[in-house]
Amino acid sequence: MTVTEQIQALKKEKNAVILAHYYVPDEVQEIADYIGDSFYLSKVAATTDADVLVLCGVSFMGESARILNPEKTVLLPDMEADCPMAHMADREKIQELKKQYEDLAVVCYINSTAELKTCADVCVTSANALEIVRALPNRHIFFIPDENLGRYVASKIPDKHFIFNDGHCPVHARLSREAVERAKKEHPGAEVLVHPECVPEVLALADYIGSTSGIIRYAGGSSCKSFIICTEEGVLCELKKRNPDRQFYMVTDDFRCPDMKKVTLDKVLKVLEEGCNRVEVDPELSRTSMRPLERMLELAR
Ligand code: 13P
Ligand code: SF4
Repeated sequence: MTVTEQIQALKKEKNAVILAHYYVPDEVQEIADYIGDSFYLSKVAATTDADVLVLCGVSFMGESARILNPEKTVLLPDMEADCPMAHMADREKIQELKKQYEDLAVVCYINSTAELKTCADVCVTSANALEIVRALPNRHIFFIPDENLGRYVASKIPDKHFIFNDGHCPVHARLSREAVERAKKEHPGAEVLVHPECVPEVLALADYIGSTSGIIRYAGGSSCKSFIICTEEGVLCELKKRNPDRQFYMVTDDFRCPDMKKVTLDKVLKVLEEGCNRVEVDPELSRTSMRPLERMLELAR
């Protein structure tokens, strides 16, 4: 049997489903039952009735799945696959600001550890951040951990006061304005599609700004036929599958998240065979970090 056939057989035997983010390698996306952005994966994780969830992504995704569905077994193909930005906020600063602003809402990007989520009033993803922050009654918003997504949200909601945090995605934040300008010269007429984790100078050059699923939806509906993609290269798999008649150009040839690329087919097979790499979250931590995640799911409904 091939690795894929073994995975399919084990999935049936263990009543398991495979959830994959758009950034994992193509061959892993191809065997997944559900492929999507962080928001979609969290909704699937909260509602699936499978016994085992194999979360093909980074550790905060496995952690969120486990918190949202504590009855289920959640397996991570690579326990070392971690989003560096998930750790880039300081709990003391949050407590300080809470004292300073009475009506402060701590808005926490889902790319964060469970410990950080416990300090949050609500979680957001790049797909629902605008909608959720608009819906909050609070005027003062502390947006953690991603400064770039925070600044983007703030630019669209001028009536609220935002405080930003010094955190960023190392993969998106290093894309420069010059690189986008170079790609635009090379591909005149192509639309520029950008993930909001990029820096403001890059967002300023975008024809569309959105989450991975937003980018995929936009590319399918646009009257333009060619696109410069300013997010992790893994999205090309779905973009090309859905739009064989359209041209997609990566803005640079090294737009790769090393952590997402740690997830391989062999590791998916191993966790299914051995039931290893279980995601465990301390019950009290799970209970307190579930609240902002559930509030996100309610507000974005
Ligand atoms: P999405 O919210 O588009 O899934 O992005 C998650 C992510 O990790 C982006 O770097
Ligand atoms: Fe984290 Fe950036 Fe990788 Fe997304 S692309 S998982 S934000 S390091």
